[in-house]
Amino acid sequence: MSNNNLQQRRLNATPRGVGVMCNFYASSAENSTLTDVEGNQYIDFAAGIAVLNTGHRHPRLTQAIEQQLKAFTHTAYQIVPYESYISLAEKINAAAPIAGELKTAFFSTGAEAVENAVKIARAYTRRPGIIAFGGGFHGRTYMTMALTGKVAPYKAGFGPFPGSVFHVPYPSGLHKVTTADTVNAIERLFKSDIEATQVAAIIFEPVQGEGGFNVAPPELIAAIRRICDQHGIVMIADEVQSGFARTGKLFAMDHYQHQPDLMTMAKSLAGGMPLSGVVGKAEIMDAPAPGGLGGTYAGNPMAVASAHAVLDIIEDEQLCQRADALGERLRVVLRNCQAWCAELAEVRGLGSMIAAEFCDAQTGEPSAATAQTIQKLALEQGLLLLTCGQYGNVIRFLYPLTIPDAQFDTALRIIESVTKK
Ligand SMILES: Cc1ncc(COP(=O)(O)O)c(C=O)c1O
Repeated sequence: MSNNNLQQRRLNATPRGVGVMCNFYASSAENSTLTDVEGNQYIDFAAGIAVLNTGHRHPRLTQAIEQQLKAFTHTAYQIVPYESYISLAEKINAAAPIAGELKTAFFSTGAEAVENAVKIARAYTRRPGIIAFGGGFHGRTYMTMALTGKVAPYKAGFGPFPGSVFHVPYPSGLHKVTTADTVNAIERLFKSDIEATQVAAIIFEPVQGEGGFNVAPPELIAAIRRICDQHGIVMIADEVQSGFARTGKLFAMDHYQHQPDLMTMAKSLAGGMPLSGVVGKAEIMDAPAPGGLGGTYAGNPMAVASAHAVLDIIEDEQLCQRADALGERLRVVLRNCQAWCAELAEVRGLGSMIAAEFCDAQTGEPSAATAQTIQKLALEQGLLLLTCGQYGNVIRFLYPLTIPDAQFDTALRIIESVTKK
């Protein structure tokens, strides 16, 4: 089987809308190494888009899945429930940075978790409005497309979208957007578009993922909390990309003094098995009537088994500390690169959720071309990197936190060398 042959078959058999980044095809993977069908190896700094904080096929994870496989693979939790779903909910309730009695419901994808968080907030408040952020990404279903604050390629050609969704700017030091700008925009919305008493929720990412790893300033979180408290609005933190040790804490919201009412999670929750969840204050979580939440595959037992293993691995292998340590090493290397790469405008992030933003050295305008060139050169040297950002000019580094030190050093050397070109 050759990559070229598969490429041709893919183009003939699948629609172009399912855009594919790489022109090579996976054959096997272990921890942070991906091997293609021709035997070429790559250091995987994409990690299935932030899904593999615990690496490809961690032995404890495959063992947990194998064990579950031998017991049962599916009953539909809403028909015949199982203990592992309940104990996972108990663990998430105990770990989430939200005070008081909590409850958790499981789903399959990140978009589904966000959809359900919106349903829960609307059922609780009996209000329609949702405020989201420019540059935010929440998924590809209709409500989550409406919430997403980036038109191309996510929303273009797909309208009309569900109504009562409003966007305000997300703070960015580099692009000179402040928390005061965000707060003013929310106050303007309350005057010109929707009464505050008709808003069900404000949904935000504590670190924007697809939007470019913009980290929420503490004053933004405080302002959202204040506005939500003032008007009875549900505060939803979307932790689909930032969760499970990536930022150096189990959840990015652990870095902040103020707490949300609901949190969505997915991706690294189950290390490659499709599982997502919504955790939140019991009173809010219990607003929908029985039967209002769920789905055929929601909380699938194989994925739940995998999530239990992920939580154990994060704790036993101290992956939060490792995220901080690896992130610091990468940050130092990227800051050194700024000495010879004038386009490297900013290095930012939390823990190991780190990104580098590239702008034209003369004009200061975002330079997607530079980010793409670096991504291409790195791939030629066997390092798989992802771009992101409102302007596509940001490179994000999403290595498994279990990556061996020697391989991490090799990746850092590749990053240094490609930024020199
Ligand atoms: C913050 C955030 N929310 C929601 C989603 C959607 O998740 P999924 O692609 O699993 O539907 C993503 C995916 O990248 C995300 O980063």
